[in-house]
Amino acid sequence: SDPRIPAIQSRIRVVPDFPKPGIMFQDITTLLLDPKAFKDTIDLFIERYQGKNISVVAGIEARGFVFGPPIALAIGAKFVPLRKPGKLPGEIISEDYTLEYGKDCLQMHVGAVKPMERALVVDDLIATGGTLCAAMNLIERAGAEVVECVCVIELPDLKGRERLKGKPLFVLLEAH
Ligand code: PRP
Ligand code: MG
Repeated sequence: SDPRIPAIQSRIRVVPDFPKPGIMFQDITTLLLDPKAFKDTIDLFIERYQGKNISVVAGIEARGFVFGPPIALAIGAKFVPLRKPGKLPGEIISEDYTLEYGKDCLQMHVGAVKPMERALVVDDLIATGGTLCAAMNLIERAGAEVVECVCVIELPDLKGRERLKGKPLFVLLEAH
């Protein structure tokens, strides 16, 4: 694994019992406070996806909005926000999903992603995989191909990877 990863991992703060008892919250805001570690995180993704003919980077509200846009700009792709309900003003498609702590929904503007486009789906973390699965469904309903899902952190004990319908998932680090 890459020598930049241990410093990235060291900048992620783990907060026990947030937002509910029993949840070990992986806080990426502390990573963002370290410009070198934040840049290394983005660079690792750029190095992987540069030249892979990806035209869409779809980021999941809210924390996927932090990591998606710098990747999109660097690889010359468009950025498509996948938003929580009621935020997008245009015509939308919706996908409901269940979360580690609750129920939610993601929405995407119709026409933002075109048929046959090659897309990355970006988020900070995969837990149960419900969020990424809903995001993938939105991209696929638009007729595009999800090339890979990409997160900073995976919680492998929750087996979210198994919900991704065989699509590859790339993560920088695992947390238990
Ligand atoms: C968190 C996290 C992922 C999702 C992972 O987001 O940022 O998006 O949960 O969980 P899953 O794999 O079990 O679906 P959350 O919905 O808490 O909100 P935020 O990103 O807006 O802070
Ligand atoms: Mg999120």
